[in-house]
Amino acid sequence: MRLPSDSPGEAPAGSIGVTWLGHATFLMKSPGGTRIMFDPWLTGNPSCPEKSKKVSGVDLMLITHGHGDHTGDAVAVARSSGATVLAAYELTGWLERQGVKNTRGMNIGGTERFKDLRVTQVQAFHSSSNEENGQQVYLGPATGFILRCDSGDTVYFAGDTGLFGDMKMLRERYAPSIAFLPIGDRFTMGPEDAAIAGEWLGVKRIVPMHYGTFPELTGTPAQLREFCRPRGIDVVELRPGEAAIL
Ligand code: NI
Ligand code: MN
Repeated sequence: MRLPSDSPGEAPAGSIGVTWLGHATFLMKSPGGTRIMFDPWLTGNPSCPEKSKKVSGVDLMLITHGHGDHTGDAVAVARSSGATVLAAYELTGWLERQGVKNTRGMNIGGTERFKDLRVTQVQAFHSSSNEENGQQVYLGPATGFILRCDSGDTVYFAGDTGLFGDMKMLRERYAPSIAFLPIGDRFTMGPEDAAIAGEWLGVKRIVPMHYGTFPELTGTPAQLREFCRPRGIDVVELRPGEAAIL
C-alpha cells in the first residue's frame, strides 16, 4: 500500500514502512518504530530525489558492502544522525578511520540485537572494496541482511549478489516473507534470476532494487513481474521517493 508522503515513518505502528531513495538506498521503519537506512547513497545517486538527499533521524544503518554506490553518504549520514552502523568488520574499520562512531563490525552468520530487531549478516556473491589514500582497499565480504522483527515479520535485504543455492537455506532457517533483490543485471542478478531467488526464498513479495540508475542496468520491474507471475510472487515497484507499507 502506498503512503501519501515520502516518509516511512507515516506507516502505522506495528507495520513496516519503506521509502526507496533510488538504487539500493532505502529508509525503513520497523514495526517497533526503529528507523533504518540501507546502503546510503544520496548526493551522487542520479535516482535520488533532490528533496531526499538530506536525511535525518536514522537509528540504524545497515551497509551490505563497500562499493561507492552503497557507501557514498555513509560517513555523512552516520556523523549527522549518530546512527549505529552494522557492516562487515573491515568496512566498519574503514568508516571508523573516517570518523564514524557507533559502529558494530560483524561477519557472516552473526546476529546483533538492535531495539526490536535481530539483524543477521548473511552471504552475498559479489565483491567489496573502496578507495583509501588513493589505493583500492579490500573491505571484507559482500553481504546481505536478514531482519527478524519482534512483531514476527522477517525481511531479507540481499545487497548486490548473484543467485546462489543457499537462498534455499535462508528460507529453511529464517523463512522471510519479503525480499529486497537486485534486478539490474551486469553487476548483480537480473530479473529472471531474481524471480528464481524469490521462489527459493519462499517469499510472497519482492521489492526490486539496483536498476534504472545507469544505462548498464538493463533489468526492469516489468520483466521481473513476468517471471514472478507464474510463481505467485508479487512485485512491489516503488518510484524513487515513494513510500509504502509492506
Ligand atoms: Ni557492488
Ligand atoms: Mn552496487
